[in-house]
Amino acid sequence: MAATLITLQPRPEIDPSVDHAIQAIVSGASTDATCTTDLAVGPWDFDTRPGYGPGSSMGDVIPTGSPRQGELPAEYREASDDELDERIRAAKATLGDRVVVLGHFYQREEVVRHADYVGDSFQLANAAKERPEAEAIVFCGVHFMAETADLLSRPDQAVILPNLAAGCSMADMADIDQVEECWEQLEDVLGDLETPDADGLVPVIPVTYMNSSAAIKGFVGRHGGIVCTSSNARTVLEWAFARGRRVLFFPDQHLGRNTAKAMGVPLEQMPMWNPRKPLGGSTAEVIEDSRVILWHGFCSVHRRFTVDQIEKARAEHPGVRVIVHPECPMDVVDAADEAGSTDIIRKAIAAAEEPTTFAIGTEINLVQRLAAQYPQHEIFCLDPVVCPCSTMYRIHPGYLAWVLESLVAGQVVNRITVPADVAEPATVALERMLAAKPNGAVK
Ligand code: 13P
Ligand code: SF4
Repeated sequence: MAATLITLQPRPEIDPSVDHAIQAIVSGASTDATCTTDLAVGPWDFDTRPGYGPGSSMGDVIPTGSPRQGELPAEYREASDDELDERIRAAKATLGDRVVVLGHFYQREEVVRHADYVGDSFQLANAAKERPEAEAIVFCGVHFMAETADLLSRPDQAVILPNLAAGCSMADMADIDQVEECWEQLEDVLGDLETPDADGLVPVIPVTYMNSSAAIKGFVGRHGGIVCTSSNARTVLEWAFARGRRVLFFPDQHLGRNTAKAMGVPLEQMPMWNPRKPLGGSTAEVIEDSRVILWHGFCSVHRRFTVDQIEKARAEHPGVRVIVHPECPMDVVDAADEAGSTDIIRKAIAAAEEPTTFAIGTEINLVQRLAAQYPQHEIFCLDPVVCPCSTMYRIHPGYLAWVLESLVAGQVVNRITVPADVAEPATVALERMLAAKPNGAVK
């Protein structure tokens, strides 16, 4: 029998731009859905209002006193996409090695294309140390990432966040006063928290996710604790269990729960700490029996993923590989095939040799870019609604052009500086983490 000739149809080119997808939805050219049409206008429309802005975190309560962005000059608000692109390229060319631009995977395509380093929060923390000769580090990411870059870079390097309103709603869910108060309450239940027992273990080691303020990292550093990211959470928890009876994990309950569960910690020994309730809403007995105390925080981007979406993907795409970020709720991680940080998701796709269908549970900008980069695979976001991270999305090329052209003119705008008394212990906690290598997937 003659062999059947199978002709592979070339896929139509995939546009990596989430902005283009949103503009098409809003203009009616696409029948897809977005969580809010406000995403189609410039982020500067929201700079004068309190709130995280349109996108996944738009319903979250922003703490009073959160940084606000001043008015972006009109020439940047009114410039076309092409003009901004050209101005960014020209400013970078003029600045040369004097500037390094870092871009998180969740940034818009129109921003990421100008980054010298693109990565997850662990990789970008390392990248911040790699260019000590650069006068300025422009961090296209969110506030806690820029603070971390300031902690890890040389004191004379200026770290710049293009839009000061690019915070993180999850990081804001643990404030330093609440954490200090929690520590005092734990001391009432567990006794002196600094003194090791006969086995050399202290009662509790604080572990903070990278997605937290420098003040929280400083707290952790002062109390024998450590920072983790989603790419090294297991290694870090092992580090902590080698030094303490239990862990206080903040702000992301899901990363804490998913990681500890994969290590065999029973759910009954992972009580939640709600900072608005006495003893976190728990009892002294439960705290005494606990192994991991989970702070009541979450990411509004990853909370959008559900088991129903996974079931639908499996029904419609037999053989689909479902990979989710460990900031997703536990039932979603359990229903997925794999769970890992943004870079682990990227590497899993890059390593797939056969054409594969991937359903991904993480921020849409990364998913869309991966779909465009790997056209041999079918890659789609589990969430059918286009709803980017509100705060990552506030870094628009207009702000990047503004901060770079200001540097060309000799002016540093939007500098992020961590005060020295916080910086010292926070750096200790970060250096402990950087000494612990990434450990791979959570599941
Ligand atoms: P990673 O970059 O560590 O994967 O974290 C994702 C995230 O939510 C960043 O804000
Ligand atoms: Fe924060 Fe979630 Fe956005 Fe990351 S994706 S910056 S954790 S709100």
